[in-house]
Amino acid sequence: MKQKILLLGATGSIGQSTQNCCERYPDEFELVGISYYSNTEKAQECIKKFSTIKHISKTAEEIIEMVKTADYDVLVNAIVGCAGFAPTAAALTRGKKVALANKESLVVGGEVIDQILAKHGGSIIPIDSEHSAILQCIYGENRKELESITITASGGPFRELPKSEFEKITPERALKHPTWAMGAKITIDSATLMNKGFEVIEAYHLYKIDYDKINVVVHPQSIIHSMATFIDGAVLAQCGLPDMELPIQYALTFPERKFMIPTPRLDLAKIGQLTFFEPDYDKFPCLRMCFEAGKAGGTLPCVLNAANEVAVAKFLRNEIKFTQIAEIVETALSKHNRQKSESVEQILEIDKEIRRLYS
Ligand SMILES: NC(=O)c1ccc[n+]([C@@H]2O[C@H](COP(=O)([O-])OP(=O)(O)OC[C@H]3O[C@@H](n4cnc5c(N)ncnc54)[C@H](OP(=O)(O)O)[C@@H]3O)[C@@H](O)[C@H]2O)c1
Repeated sequence: MKQKILLLGATGSIGQSTQNCCERYPDEFELVGISYYSNTEKAQECIKKFSTIKHISKTAEEIIEMVKTADYDVLVNAIVGCAGFAPTAAALTRGKKVALANKESLVVGGEVIDQILAKHGGSIIPIDSEHSAILQCIYGENRKELESITITASGGPFRELPKSEFEKITPERALKHPTWAMGAKITIDSATLMNKGFEVIEAYHLYKIDYDKINVVVHPQSIIHSMATFIDGAVLAQCGLPDMELPIQYALTFPERKFMIPTPRLDLAKIGQLTFFEPDYDKFPCLRMCFEAGKAGGTLPCVLNAANEVAVAKFLRNEIKFTQIAEIVETALSKHNRQKSESVEQILEIDKEIRRLYS
């Protein structure tokens, strides 16, 4: 039986890689629907390539309607930002499997998503390479024997740049990621380490592990994608060349693996050295703020994300300095009156309000 796939954000970086996975195994995967936002040309290319596509959506309302009514087995959510949250919630409310690239779903509304999962019995398989790595390390293990997890970070393009130079960072420089080719927003989030902080919050919800058992280590080569430490001190790590097609394919075939045709294999002797560093929380305050907002919970992570989306968009338009991204987020967090996370509607309201305040 073919798996019917609904792909949100088909025109983006993860969307394209997901299309490649579907093309590679036409007998296994059937792309039945897509969403896109502004890139009509890429959407048309995709529609031409896959004659199996029956559903196409663009606006938020159309996307939700498609997720709620279409016939599919797996939702691949590759939308960027908070716009991906309501579709994730809608698919899980139908008890569907969600292959999740949109980490913002779990950042803005992780507590609401947890409640939906508990009530409706859907599942989330992560696409983020770090969370896929952790899944690969802990699958088949006794979860009670897991002691901690370690998320690796490339450190972004400014790992070695002195803090005094950060004011001068331009969008062009920040958009050059050293190891991964990704969409613009996540590339900026990687440069501020906000992305790593988001992944900490994502890991907390996916693996039900306390924040003090989630470590971050900077590993510039991006070969070890993350690690799990067990109670006997054993550490399992998942390694590979930085290529998102592996975690996407794994999310679709989990718990099985499939042959990956075109990629070169990891050759450690060729790489020579793997290095590791403590993250610099002073240079990268966004990482610290994610731990703090995640631990505080409730509506604070939603505020963190909304303020960040606004600030990143402003930075990309050259309206603010790189350092002001963290400043805007810090201000938004300090001014927000934290509430309990209760519903999708409440989260979307707060997201809207923060955008209004800081745009
Ligand atoms: N790229 C990676 O390697 C990577 C790795 C791990 C996790 N992720 C996560 O995966 C998600 C997608 O990342 P990406 O790099 O693929 O981003 P991207 O290349 O910027 O693509 C974003 C996709 O979302 C669509 N979109 C943008 N705004 C939207 C809105 N308001 N409503 C509905 N759709 C909207 C875009 O449509 P148009 O292009 O048509 O405008 C595009 O299809 C993010 O959450 C990111 O954190 C990415």
